[in-house]
Amino acid sequence: MTQSQRASVAVLGLGPMGAALARACLDADVSTTVWNRSLARADDMVGHGATAASQAQAAIESADLVVVCLRDHTVVREVLGGIEAAAYTGRTVLNLSSSTPHEARRTAKWATERGITYLTGAIMVPTPLIGDPSALILYSGDRTVFERHVGRLRILAGTADHLGEDPGLAALYDVGMLEIFFAGMTSFLHAAAMVTAQGVDAATFLPYARQIAALLPDTFLSLARDVDGGSYSGDEDRLAMELTALEHIAHTSDEVGLDSALPRLMRDLAGRAVDAGHGDDGFSRLVETLRQGQHR
Ligand SMILES: NC(=O)c1ccc[n+]([C@@H]2O[C@H](COP(=O)([O-])OP(=O)(O)OC[C@H]3O[C@@H](n4cnc5c(N)ncnc54)[C@H](OP(=O)(O)O)[C@@H]3O)[C@@H](O)[C@H]2O)c1
Repeated sequence: MTQSQRASVAVLGLGPMGAALARACLDADVSTTVWNRSLARADDMVGHGATAASQAQAAIESADLVVVCLRDHTVVREVLGGIEAAAYTGRTVLNLSSSTPHEARRTAKWATERGITYLTGAIMVPTPLIGDPSALILYSGDRTVFERHVGRLRILAGTADHLGEDPGLAALYDVGMLEIFFAGMTSFLHAAAMVTAQGVDAATFLPYARQIAALLPDTFLSLARDVDGGSYSGDEDRLAMELTALEHIAHTSDEVGLDSALPRLMRDLAGRAVDAGHGDDGFSRLVETLRQGQHR
């Protein structure tokens, strides 16, 4: 391998995210070869200073760090599986395609069995933030592999956190963080539908939405303490009281003719815990209700 190959990156997959990753490498003056199934996207990157490869194997052979950003892990195994084993010698494959933790472990095992030096990651920011010092990418898997490349990983995102040797961890944190994000967005939209149904603009409601959302970080702190401690004191908040508030949300939603699935889900969860005799416990008790599995 030549010196220039050692300092090079290959990017496989040029959807919106793969293209953003390739551009960040180019902006940092890293020699970058790109490949994409639809070759036109690779040709587009040439205008940004990339070298386009018509075959994935040629891209892999051009670099020591191969960043893979494809639709999902099935596609990743399909594309990487079509490469001669020798092409992986002396190279690290960094898979930044999203998956579940189980799927991430499966792909890591699959790669290791083929002798591929492999690291997996989860991108926690949208494409415009790639390359930004504020951006976060989570990594998991072999720590020595992470440490070998961490300098270049910070080109992609200023914060590069290695979560542990289990290759499923990055995807696990990813789904956990995304759940919080999507639940927050969905609940804002439901609340916005409720207020607009009664003549209040979303923009007028917004400062109050932000004010209650600002309580969440400290609330998470005490919930996490209860979850890890396994005790659910109702000294500050009683689940029976909170159930009444959840009833009010569900009723208001019904009254203005909205889809009430979200408030009903929250109300029913709390209702089951109260029915089971936990009305004097705090809201954190619901983690045990959730742990009981699917309600039938
Ligand atoms: N976009 C974001 O904001 C964001 C944020 C975090 C994480 N991610 C993750 O990043 C990954 C890539 O996302 P993306 O936004 O760039 O777009 P995407 O639509 O998820 O992925 C598109 C890429 O996958 C390729 N692809 C799909 N099926 C293929 C196949 N059978 N064989 C070969 N290549 C195939 C596409 O090639 P063609 O161009 O030929 O179709 C394209 O390069 C995903 O796992 C996504 O979840 C994205």
